[in-house]
Amino acid sequence: MYSVEIRGTGSCVPEHRVSNEDISKFVDTSDQWIRERTGIRERRISIAENTTELAVESGRKALKDAGIAPEEVDLIIVATVTPDNFFPSTACLVQAGIGAGKATSFDISAACTGFIYGLSIAGQFIKTGRYKTALVIGSEVLSKITDWDDRNTCVLFADGAGAAVLQRGVSGIISEIIGSDGNGAENLGCPAVPLKNKFTVSDNCKPNIISMNGREIYKFAVKMIPECVQKVLKDTGYSLQDIKHIIPHQANVRILDAAAKKLQIDRDKFYVNLHQYGNTSGASIPLALDEMSKSGLLTGGDLIIIVGFGAGLTYGAQLIQWTKV
Ligand code: UT7
Repeated sequence: MYSVEIRGTGSCVPEHRVSNEDISKFVDTSDQWIRERTGIRERRISIAENTTELAVESGRKALKDAGIAPEEVDLIIVATVTPDNFFPSTACLVQAGIGAGKATSFDISAACTGFIYGLSIAGQFIKTGRYKTALVIGSEVLSKITDWDDRNTCVLFADGAGAAVLQRGVSGIISEIIGSDGNGAENLGCPAVPLKNKFTVSDNCKPNIISMNGREIYKFAVKMIPECVQKVLKDTGYSLQDIKHIIPHQANVRILDAAAKKLQIDRDKFYVNLHQYGNTSGASIPLALDEMSKSGLLTGGDLIIIVGFGAGLTYGAQLIQWTKV
């Protein structure tokens, strides 16, 4: 069995910044409420690039960072809940966009845990020796399914993409957990097209916009972040003290405060950039990883944990020894 290492990262966010004040012009909210209840100050909202373009750009940057040519990529996985098309997959469009001629390409849907699921799936192919090089991308344009009249949700979600190049190695992903609880599916979602064809009689069209039970998701996150972190440490010989950074899905600083309290750790162990980018779902963890890597926060040998939760409901985490210097 091979180990799975992250060789490079990349990210891409739209240029257009939207502040809390901007949002308070069209829904009944305030900068103070959004900052105090979520930690978010601004977010990027796309007015030009769709999910595929953000994915292509972040993938290109990750390959450049890794010093790997597109022709070497064996596998492309895009985690997204906001694809541009039902089909073809975003991953196939990325393959064409970056010129990764020999790659096998497909999308996965695991919402905000999508990047962690993607790493896990790509990791299985690499560990067994089936593939040598994989590109995993989380890319979302949530603004196109956001209900801009709903103050409960429109202040949270945003657009962006992040990517990582994985290869066989000697350390890298040490342990992981992924899982789901479909019983909580109704708490966060966005309908696709309804059942409607030449033979159906009723037309119960629901708009393609996000609806969320914020409190239930909040409770789920505060339960699952500590559980996942403990599970990936179990039986590894490492403890929380050995972990340099925990990179969580970026949803709400209060969720992180509560999770830190449960884990009895300093909240600063959680890397936070949601004040700048809001909640970008499957893109949030690779976006944070890339930002940390580029700003010199990660050095070879560091132990980190990435941890996510989201619609499905889904959850997951990886304990990683950072190998990219
Ligand atoms: O990737 C996963 C995605 N989802 C999440 O991470 C969501 C997790 N949940 C949360 O982050 C929080 O539950 C929210 C930020 C969504 C909401 O915070 P909360 O402290 O749980 O607020 P709440 O839903 O209990 O609402 C409190 C009050 C309500 O008013 P009343 O009924 O007390 O009069 C809401 O109507 O705050 C009101 N409210 C707002 N007020 C101003 C809700 N949204 C807003 C808003 N501005 N944007």
